[in-house]
Amino acid sequence: MGILEILGIIIALIIVLSVVGWLIGVSRSKDSKTLIPSGEIHGTALVVYDPGITGGTRTAAFHIAHELKTRGYEVKLAGARSSEALNLSGVDVLVIGSPTYGAQPTGPVKTYLQNLQSPGNITAGVYSLAGSIVEDSNVVMAQALESKSIPVKVSTKYGHSAWGAPSDKTLYAKFVAQLLS
Ligand SMILES: Cc1cc2nc3c(=O)[nH]c(=O)nc-3n(C[C@H](O)[C@H](O)[C@H](O)COP(=O)(O)O)c2cc1C
Repeated sequence: MGILEILGIIIALIIVLSVVGWLIGVSRSKDSKTLIPSGEIHGTALVVYDPGITGGTRTAAFHIAHELKTRGYEVKLAGARSSEALNLSGVDVLVIGSPTYGAQPTGPVKTYLQNLQSPGNITAGVYSLAGSIVEDSNVVMAQALESKSIPVKVSTKYGHSAWGAPSDKTLYAKFVAQLLS
């Protein structure tokens, strides 16, 4: 087999894997579920995320949602394309997470932010998964929220590990602690 054929197979594999990853991401971004705390309920939180290609943003959303639940919040965990994501009725705390691609949040997150209606009094935080620590995607998300009179209290960019989000869950606990302080 010649070098050109091997290159062709590698490129075809990359394209197939990218399309499959994208299709899984689209499907997951339409998911939503509710987490109910076992004890007294102190408030309602909505965690909206775009799953991303390698799943780091989704994993981080799960950790943040579980931390909010542990602190007594009923949590709606919603993909950016899900019908639940735009429903801010009764929501006290809003978290939005996105992967960083080309120094920007993803298209579904930007569309979500454009369609969001200001709910009045709400505490908001943004986070992104990224390869660099430059505050690019977070700034775009924060500005979009602030243009709708939703001030962003916490903005964090998590470095990327080889297979998804950083494994240190205390990072997400810190994010939630800052948000609720
Ligand atoms: C096509 C592409 C473009 C990227 N662009 C950026 C970028 O501009 N800045 C950055 O910090 N990270 C960038 N990254 C790194 C991703 O943000 C990082 O892999 C992140 O973990 C993706 O989120 P996910 O794990 O949820 O898929 C890029 C990754 C890919 C695949």
